[in-house]
Amino acid sequence: MTLLPAAGTPPAAAGPIPEVDLATTLAGVEFPNPVFTASGCAAAGQELGQFFDVAELGGLVTKSILLEPRAGRPTPRMAETPSGMLNSIGLQGPGIGAFLDRDLPWLASRGARAVVSIAGARVEDYAELAGRLRGQPAVALLEVNISCPNVEDRGAVFACDPTAAAAVVAAVRCAAPPGVPVFAKLSPDVTDIVAVARACVEAGAGGLSMINTLLGMAVDTTTLRPVLAGVTGGLSGPAIRPVAVRCVWQVHAALPEVPILGMGGIRTGLDALEFLLAGASAVSVGTAIFGDPSAPVRVLAELRTALVERGISRLADVVGLAHRPPAPPHLTGPEPPGAADADPEGT
Ligand code: DHB
Repeated sequence: MTLLPAAGTPPAAAGPIPEVDLATTLAGVEFPNPVFTASGCAAAGQELGQFFDVAELGGLVTKSILLEPRAGRPTPRMAETPSGMLNSIGLQGPGIGAFLDRDLPWLASRGARAVVSIAGARVEDYAELAGRLRGQPAVALLEVNISCPNVEDRGAVFACDPTAAAAVVAAVRCAAPPGVPVFAKLSPDVTDIVAVARACVEAGAGGLSMINTLLGMAVDTTTLRPVLAGVTGGLSGPAIRPVAVRCVWQVHAALPEVPILGMGGIRTGLDALEFLLAGASAVSVGTAIFGDPSAPVRVLAELRTALVERGISRLADVVGLAHRPPAPPHLTGPEPPGAADADPEGT
């Protein structure tokens, strides 16, 4: 597999760079552009500061924060798979106290728009975390991770059940800073993602983040044991992109007014454009960061080029554009070979 950047789009022709309005709005919050990091791929963002100015991105999504510091699962907890990556980190992190004392002030000092991801084992944990974020002006959005695959008990994956997902979202909405939208992060490992999405929105989610990793596993044929110490893990990377695009498409079709932060295997500007066309208003770049820490800024530059090449001057115009009805046949170009000879009666 390759986590390295795919060949980018060709550079635009020399001359003045055409203006493209890249601004996007998520549940009333404005962002200068639609490219964010994805949760879990760069802690709280400091480690990316040596590669680019983190304020250049639309937003920085933190690794999910818990109430207490946590060491996570035993190693090995990452494995490469074809066009993907499995991880079983187990929500390692410093806890909300250290995040508020150290990480959030750093993000604020850099002018980054922080999207704070929170996770917990109980509804009350999420509510307490959301409450601790009150009075923190650097918090642009809250992302509620109700879909972490690396928990001992599948019953604790709130996003696999509409009622459980709604309970977390309602509690977070109640406790969260007023005016800060709550985005629920959904799992693709469900039969009907639209039902979960609808339940979250009815419970007060201002938007949806889609998708979290898929539950996967790998077995080592030399040791004859599971590769990951935690046995199962979350699958991410290009391997899951078609699943993610399908989820974004289905939810945007059912709930077109609900903003979506789309993610799942984005490596290039064209990958980002695919999510926007399917209905996302912004995108997160995740696994690509492990091979190329500057991937999010490169994706942003490539997205701009892709819009220019298509004569599009406003990013907002492409959101959900793939849902428009197909053009009548006389506008779609030449007929396919043999079409004129077709016998409509089938005789
Ligand atoms: C972890 C959390 C996630 O939400 C995910 O998709 C994968 C891994 C974790 O910390 O284990």
